Amino acid sequence: MNVLEVEHLNVWEERSGRNLVRDSSFRLAQGECLAIVGESGSGKSLTCKSIMRLNRNGIRHSGRIALNGEDLSILSDKAMRRYRGRRLCMIMQNGMSAFDPSRPIGAHLQETLGIHYDWSRAEREAKLAAAMIAVGLREPAAVMSRYPFELSGGMLQRVMIALALVLEPDVIIADEPTTALDAVTAYEVVEQFVRLRERLRSAMIFVSHDLGVVRRIADNVLVMKDGEIVEQGAAREIFSGARHPYTRYLVSSKETLSRHYKWLMGGVDVAQG
Ligand SMILES: Nc1ncnc2c1ncn2[C@@H]1O[C@H](COP(=O)(O)OP(=O)(O)OP(=O)(O)O)[C@@H](O)[C@H]1O
Ligand SMILES: [Mg+2]
Repeated sequence: MNVLEVEHLNVWEERSGRNLVRDSSFRLAQGECLAIVGESGSGKSLTCKSIMRLNRNGIRHSGRIALNGEDLSILSDKAMRRYRGRRLCMIMQNGMSAFDPSRPIGAHLQETLGIHYDWSRAEREAKLAAAMIAVGLREPAAVMSRYPFELSGGMLQRVMIALALVLEPDVIIADEPTTALDAVTAYEVVEQFVRLRERLRSAMIFVSHDLGVVRRIADNVLVMKDGEIVEQGAAREIFSGARHPYTRYLVSSKETLSRHYKWLMGGVDVAQG
């Protein structure tokens, strides 16, 4: 059975009736990573937020979204809140926005685990510390005592990944989790996502502009343009034999970029031989 099934998802702005996502359908098997790519404004984040039922007021959606066969749209708000974090865990672009700036990181993490599990404070602390060490945060106690603004973007993303490790959700939704990071930190954080997947075998949706990252992490790719899925398939096939002109454009512009990068770094530009 699929862990997540999205069927005929439509998202629209209530006031104007403007369609923002049109008739989007896709599914995720256990352990699968699906990348969503596409230009800015194509509906990637609205797709993620609809799954989480976190769309803002004024944004509506319809369609069937099922987690392990259970239709999420018929859950009460209270039941849905219990699923968020524990079963569907979202990691956003800007780690800072996930946390209340006036409280130390440890307070957030303790509270989140307290909502979902009956563990004692000491148990929560031990699990968090082990997860932090696993994602390369070497001094868990020091990290937990810091305020969000005292940590770098890369550390905040590692904190979120550590939390996901402890929560063991069925589905992890990462919406451009590395876009705000410099290239080296982004690389390290992507590697942490790869390990997170290996450890948990959770299904994962990974939204990214960076096709190099997508190639590293995704099994399947879904390409969106103007609110619609224009292509979906195995990552290998999308990179080697995209059918839709827009996908070919995305892949070729990425290749031009990496050729340019190689050339800048002293390699030979393929076009120049
Ligand atoms: N709260 C909102 N109210 C009205 N329109 C919205 C709202 N949120 C998003 N939209 C519109 O919906 C479309 C899709 O937005 P979305 O945030 O899903 O794009 P995206 O693919 O995630 O883009 P990006 O790569 O820039 O993050 C855009 O045209 C955007 O202007
Ligand atoms: Mg977005």
